[in-house]
Amino acid sequence: MKKRYFIGGAWPYANNSLHVGHLAALLPGDVIARYGRLKGYDVIYVSGTDSHGTPITERAKREGVTPASIAERYHEEFVRDFNDLDFSYDKYTATFTDYHKQGVQDIFRLIDKNGYLYETTEEQDYCEKCGKFVSDREIEGKCPVCGKITRGDQCEFCMASFDSSALTDKRCRTCGTPTTTRTNKHLMFALSKFQKPIEDFVERMSPNWRLNAVNETKKYLTQGLPDRAATRDLDWGIEVPVPGYESKRIYVWFEAVLGYMTTGKWVAEQRGIDFDEYMKDDGNLNNYYIHGKDNIPFHTVIFPALLMAMNKGYCLPTHIVSSEYVNVNDDKMSKSKGNMISVHELAENYPSDCVRFYTMLFNPERRDVNFSIPDMITTYNKFLAGGLGNFVNRNLSFIKKKFGGVIGSGKVDPAVKEYVEGLYDTIGNKIEAGELRSATEDMVSLISYSNKYYDEQKPWVLAKEEDLSAFWNVTATCLYLMANMANIFAPVIPEGCGKLASMLPMGELAYKPTTLPESFTLGEVPILYTRIDEK
Ligand code: MF3
Ligand code: ZN
Repeated sequence: MKKRYFIGGAWPYANNSLHVGHLAALLPGDVIARYGRLKGYDVIYVSGTDSHGTPITERAKREGVTPASIAERYHEEFVRDFNDLDFSYDKYTATFTDYHKQGVQDIFRLIDKNGYLYETTEEQDYCEKCGKFVSDREIEGKCPVCGKITRGDQCEFCMASFDSSALTDKRCRTCGTPTTTRTNKHLMFALSKFQKPIEDFVERMSPNWRLNAVNETKKYLTQGLPDRAATRDLDWGIEVPVPGYESKRIYVWFEAVLGYMTTGKWVAEQRGIDFDEYMKDDGNLNNYYIHGKDNIPFHTVIFPALLMAMNKGYCLPTHIVSSEYVNVNDDKMSKSKGNMISVHELAENYPSDCVRFYTMLFNPERRDVNFSIPDMITTYNKFLAGGLGNFVNRNLSFIKKKFGGVIGSGKVDPAVKEYVEGLYDTIGNKIEAGELRSATEDMVSLISYSNKYYDEQKPWVLAKEEDLSAFWNVTATCLYLMANMANIFAPVIPEGCGKLASMLPMGELAYKPTTLPESFTLGEVPILYTRIDEK
C-alpha cells in the first residue's frame, strides 16, 4: 500500500508578525511535505492562522478595533510571507473560517456524546473592578512548579502547562487588582481518563519524536493529567454547541489543535478521498506535527487525548518535530530589545532559497541557535552561489562555449553513481525522521564532492585532447550529479532546483536516481544563484 504523510504545521497566533523563530520551527514541515510528494507519497500538509484567544482580543482592545480585523490583517500577512518563502501547504486557512468552526463544533458534540465532557460549577477567578470572570491569560500569579510569577496556563519560565487555578497570589493583569472568586459553570474535558493511554502512546511513539518532546511530555505526565476546562468566558472564539453555554466559547487550544482535523478533512474532500480512511492507523501513515518547543504538550498530550476521545480510530502523532529557539546575537529575541528579525523582512529582501537553506542548515533541532543576516548571506554565497551555482555554471558554460551546447555521449562514473544512489537513501531517511539539519549537511557534502570531482578530473584539460571520450565521460558524470542534486535538494531549495531541472532534459523532479539521455543539446543556461553583496 502507498505511504501517506499527514503534516500539521503549528498555527501562528494572529497577534504579531512572524519572526525567524516561527520560520525555523515551521520550515521543517515544508521540507518533509515536499520530500513526501517527490517520493510519490500521498501528502496532506495543513496549517492556518490561530485567530482566537486573548492575545488577539488584548491587541484589539489596545488598538481600538475588532478582534476579527486584527485576525484578518495578520492572516493576510502570514499568507503572503509563507508564499514568498515557497511554503507548499495543501491548505493554509484560519480558525475564523466557517468550516473550521462547524468542524470543531461537530467534534465537540462527538466528544460530549462519548462521555468525555462534564459540567462543573466552579469557584472561578473574578475581577471585581473589571466586573468579569478573568481567563487564564488575564491573570498572573506564582507558577505551581517553579514559583516564578507568570501568566496564564503555561509557565513561560519552566514551560509547565497547567490549569490557571493552580497559580497562587493571583491578580488581574488588566487592572492589577487581586482577584476574588465567584461561582461559574463550565464544561470540563476528562483529560485525567487518558493518563494511562497517553503514557502507553508516548512509550510506543517516542522513538520517532524529538528528544525535547519526549522529555517535556514525560515531565508533564509525571505531574498527573488533570481534567481541563473546555469552555471559557469570552466572546471572541467558537461558540459552545451546548444549550446553556451561549455566552461562552471553546478553549482556544482545543479548537486550534482540532484545526488539523477540520482542515485535513477539507483537503480530503477537495480531492474526493475519505479523510477518516486517510487518517486510519494502518501502519502506512506518517503523522507529523511541527512546532516550537513551547507547543509540545498541546501536541503530545492534549491533541492525542482529543483524538482518543473522538474514538474514530485516528492515527495519533507518529512524529513530533519540535524545535528549540532562535536567538539573535546570543540574545533572546524580543520586541522590547528591538532585535526581532521578521519573516517579512527576510522574504522581501532575500531569495527564498537563501533564507530556506540557511534556516535548515542551522536549524535549532537540538539546541538554540543564533540567526544572523550577515551569516545567512555568507552561507548562501559560499554554498549556493559558490558551491552549487558554480559547479553548474562552470560545467554548462564551458560546454556552451566550446561545443555550442551540444553534448556528446559519455558514461557516468560508476563510483559516483553508487555514492549518489546511497545518498538518496541516507538523506531521504533523515528527512523522513525529521533530522533535517543533518540531511542538509549531507547536501552540502554532495556539493563539495561534486566540485572536488570536477577539480580533480580537470575536464578543461581533457577537452584539449584529440580523443574526447574522457572529457565526455567526466561531463556525463557532472551532468548526472547536477540532475540528481536538483532532485535531492528540491525539498530545501525548491526554486533553484526547479531552475536547474529546466536546464536539463530530466523531466519533472522526483526523489529517485535519474539518468540523462546520452547526448543532447543544452538550451539557455542562466546563472543559478546570483551572489549577494556582503556589504
Ligand atoms: N498559536 C499557537 C502558537 O503560536 C500554536 C497553535 S498550534 C495549534 O504558539 F495546533 F494548536 F493550532
Ligand atoms: Zn481587573
